[in-house]
Amino acid sequence: MINADLMKCLADGLFHSGEALGARLGVTRAAVWKQIQHLTELGVEIESVRGKGYRLVHAQHLLSADRIREHLSELGAAPLGRIDLFVEIDSTNQYLLERSVEAGVHRSACLAELQTAGRGRRGRRWFSPFARNLYLSMGWRFDSGVGALEGLSLAVGVALCRALEPLQIPGLGLKWPNDVLVGMEKAAGILIELSGDVDTVCEVVIGVGINVRMPDSANAEIDQAWVDLETASGLDVDRNWLAARVLCELTRMLEGFSDTGFAGVRDAWHNLHLHGGSPVRVLVGDREVHGVVLGVDAQGGLRLDTPEGERVFKGGEVRLRAIDAAGF
Ligand code: BTN
Repeated sequence: MINADLMKCLADGLFHSGEALGARLGVTRAAVWKQIQHLTELGVEIESVRGKGYRLVHAQHLLSADRIREHLSELGAAPLGRIDLFVEIDSTNQYLLERSVEAGVHRSACLAELQTAGRGRRGRRWFSPFARNLYLSMGWRFDSGVGALEGLSLAVGVALCRALEPLQIPGLGLKWPNDVLVGMEKAAGILIELSGDVDTVCEVVIGVGINVRMPDSANAEIDQAWVDLETASGLDVDRNWLAARVLCELTRMLEGFSDTGFAGVRDAWHNLHLHGGSPVRVLVGDREVHGVVLGVDAQGGLRLDTPEGERVFKGGEVRLRAIDAAGF
């Protein structure tokens, strides 16, 4: 477990002796050294100089709720509630789901530098290395039950692409229902989870994982084609700025979504869609349907032109695979 107090001490980017750190944390120098070793194993770059102590090499890269709020006000974002920031957590989605039951999480956000049990769709694990990427969840209350949420995950994809616009990444777009891709490689994923009464008032937790600056170990951990934003854009990406942009665009989209539903962002979704007119395979359980993607309907269902005529598929039930030139 990362010592959050140690991270707070190191966050200034200055040298701190093992002795001074030990005194601040109430532990021995040996215990400090062990913690520093642990951080190094997690891929955190720490400079260690005899007589001076330890220094975080990229302290400016760490997440900070204050910096996120500064960027939010520069962006003119609508007011947010709490922003809870963790050095380490099991899952930011799980945290907000639990808080939702206790206190409500409307307009609240949670971010973490590392997730030990980051969740992906379909029960998969979301690789969440320390201080490299963005792991962010936001809560939102809907008063008219889950029926009003159709197409929400697609709308979140649109909000993410808008947040990433200033990076001007060639080939950035969406794969139905809500993967953010660069070409054929995944740059971000979305996981929406619900808490509350499905017929009346419910709160959704919108979880967003964005690959920003992946470590070399990522290839061994991720079993699908992926890309990170710094590689795709050739730019240094400030995660505090990015977090603020994501929160700002999510809030804007959610305010509109409560009024218009998916219909209000359908055109924008089509403009970002990477597979319009492409031949695809749709996997429904253990069956496979071949067709050409027509787009999405007013609820966000996938419209497919198949040999049997047009069919519409809903998000929860199917997976989509592009067919390449060889027919696979
Ligand atoms: C996907 O499989 O494409 C969805 C990935 C969603 C990952 C994010 S990271 C922040 C939030 N907390 C989680 O445990 N999962 C989501």
